[in-house]
Amino acid sequence: MTNSPTILVFDSGLGGLTVLREVVAARPDAHYVYVADDAFFPYGHHSEDEIIARVVPLMGELIGTHDPDLVVIACNTASTLVLSHLRAVYSVPFVGTVPAIKPACAHSKSRRVSVLGTKGTVKREYTRALIRDFAQGCEVTLVGSPELASLAERALGGDTISDGAILAELSPCFVGDPADAGARTDTVVLACTHYPLLLERLTRLAPWPVDWIDPAPAIARRVSDLLGSHIGGIVQSGAEMIFTSNRVHGLGAALTPFFGGRVPA
Ligand code: DGL
Repeated sequence: MTNSPTILVFDSGLGGLTVLREVVAARPDAHYVYVADDAFFPYGHHSEDEIIARVVPLMGELIGTHDPDLVVIACNTASTLVLSHLRAVYSVPFVGTVPAIKPACAHSKSRRVSVLGTKGTVKREYTRALIRDFAQGCEVTLVGSPELASLAERALGGDTISDGAILAELSPCFVGDPADAGARTDTVVLACTHYPLLLERLTRLAPWPVDWIDPAPAIARRVSDLLGSHIGGIVQSGAEMIFTSNRVHGLGAALTPFFGGRVPA
């Protein structure tokens, strides 16, 4: 690859920005196209057939328009379902985002791990298989959150979200004896890319301290390995932000940290 590579980062909405910021930090030499399929948000409320029928042809259009060198599916709800379909149809390399169950279970000392994702992600056979293969004897609690992705999206857009609304989605993650650190949840997998947007509030509202597992840094390392060495001399390339609804977003400066300080066109 002799020119600056183009990386297309795809999510149902703004959650994939939490993956984008890690990838941009790892690969400042790349050009970025971030696509939010907000016209179909939230994916967690759609059936598996609807998501496959939406994402596979849409990705074909996006690849045709932007000619990426690599695509990151920065969405657990989509990755746990469509990655195999995409790889069967398109030759561009895809990097997915799937629940980090293996590292979480390896990390947990109390052997109690919760997986916080959309209702779609926790229902998937893909997620169930990860637990069968990698729970390593841990008790894994699946928590399908109906609203947390939408709440995160609204918070990034500047809306005030009450603690109670967040806590209602978060509470089922905390199981076991609250008074015994050895017999209660100590690790929570952030299995939706929207949730790290709320990390400070999740940490503050948690009934007891836990470790939050966000796979974004591991995804960035995988992207960088696949792309190969940096292009010498190029410090930064450009960035684009696309909403499938064609809406004009009012996010302004809130976006630039996710793009490594670039202002997306
Ligand atoms: N960001 C998506 C994920 O990682 C989900 C949000 C949605 O329901 O669309 O699962």
